Amino acid sequence: MTETDIALTVHQTSRPTGFPSPAHFRFVESPVPEPAPGTALVENLYWSVDPYHREMMDGDFELNAPLEGRALGRIVASRAAALPEGEIVFHRAGWRTHSVLRPEEVRRLPHHEGVPLSAYLSVLGGTGLTAYVGLTRIAQLRQGDDVFVSAAAGGVGTATGRFARLLGAGRLIGSAGSAQKVKYLTEYVGYDAAFDYHTAPVAELLAEAAPDGIDLFVDNVGSDHLGAAIGALREHGRVVRIGTIGQYNTPDAPPVIFNHADVVEKSLRVEGFLVRNYLDVQEELYEFAVPHLRAGTLALDVTVVDGFESIVEAFLSMLRGGNTGKVLVRATA
Ligand SMILES: NC(=O)c1ccc[n+]([C@@H]2O[C@H](COP(=O)([O-])OP(=O)(O)OC[C@H]3O[C@@H](n4cnc5c(N)ncnc54)[C@H](OP(=O)(O)O)[C@@H]3O)[C@@H](O)[C@H]2O)c1
Repeated sequence: MTETDIALTVHQTSRPTGFPSPAHFRFVESPVPEPAPGTALVENLYWSVDPYHREMMDGDFELNAPLEGRALGRIVASRAAALPEGEIVFHRAGWRTHSVLRPEEVRRLPHHEGVPLSAYLSVLGGTGLTAYVGLTRIAQLRQGDDVFVSAAAGGVGTATGRFARLLGAGRLIGSAGSAQKVKYLTEYVGYDAAFDYHTAPVAELLAEAAPDGIDLFVDNVGSDHLGAAIGALREHGRVVRIGTIGQYNTPDAPPVIFNHADVVEKSLRVEGFLVRNYLDVQEELYEFAVPHLRAGTLALDVTVVDGFESIVEAFLSMLRGGNTGKVLVRATA
């Protein structure tokens, strides 16, 4: 049984223009739900807050209805044989303290000894999978490739840097939003060079950090980062378009400017993807990353925020760069 009688759910109440604020959300209380036959009640333990929520807030999310989101929780009451009590599961009915779920809506977590739960929503979860698919499937990373990563100190960015190093990349260059993050990238994550994109035009900073150019750009940001990277790419360079966070909160942002002739003359390839179309790579990610986690050759980069009541704040802070590594919200006991 659950230890509390009250369940909390977050609703979006209105559409933002630019940056959202706490006023666009509401916490709704209700009794802890009972599982119907064929379902189980999951008490959530960890929540992921993700930039795609900002895009969904513009129209995809229904107003005044429970928000979805990636979460991990423990089955606390079950009326489905496939969902045994005590099991930890991954699901997408997050942004609420309790979720009632059918077997097809959950993925049971593998039991990798010594791997912390937070890894399954960060480097082994959708964040890590995005980084891994970007490098192995889209970029087809080659030994010695020099790689530039934007939003390098975030969840996808730190995973990209660590995976690229393990997969044999050459020089790693990252951009991030503060001097502290730049230090984190070079001293802790293993980037060879990094810069704070606020300090000068990105093209100038990239030219200083990578005077001989780059082979690959893993782009989490778009905007001026994309234009600068296309200029810095060598012949047969690749751009992996992962996200456009530089534009989510600035609907009137100017279009990205780059030299279109570069794409032809340098034989560049620009390709984007959505991780949800690569879920079949999940097992391969476990096989690759779990031994490294156990051996200590792969570390977790996470900002953990305590308490479900902090989920909106954690999300809003992430949009403004308040996180280092993947931001997760953890239930308090
Ligand atoms: N294609 C897919 O399937 C897929 C899957 C997952 C994520 N994504 C995308 O990948 C990107 C990173 O996601 P994440 O979950 O790892 O988030 P994250 O990088 O952990 O957090 C977002 C970061 O974006 C940076 N940022 C915010 N506004 C910016 C701006 N105007 N210019 C440059 N940087 C800015 C902030 O760091 P700074 O302090 O450095 O500014 C912030 O920490 C997002 O664009 C997301 O939409 C795509």
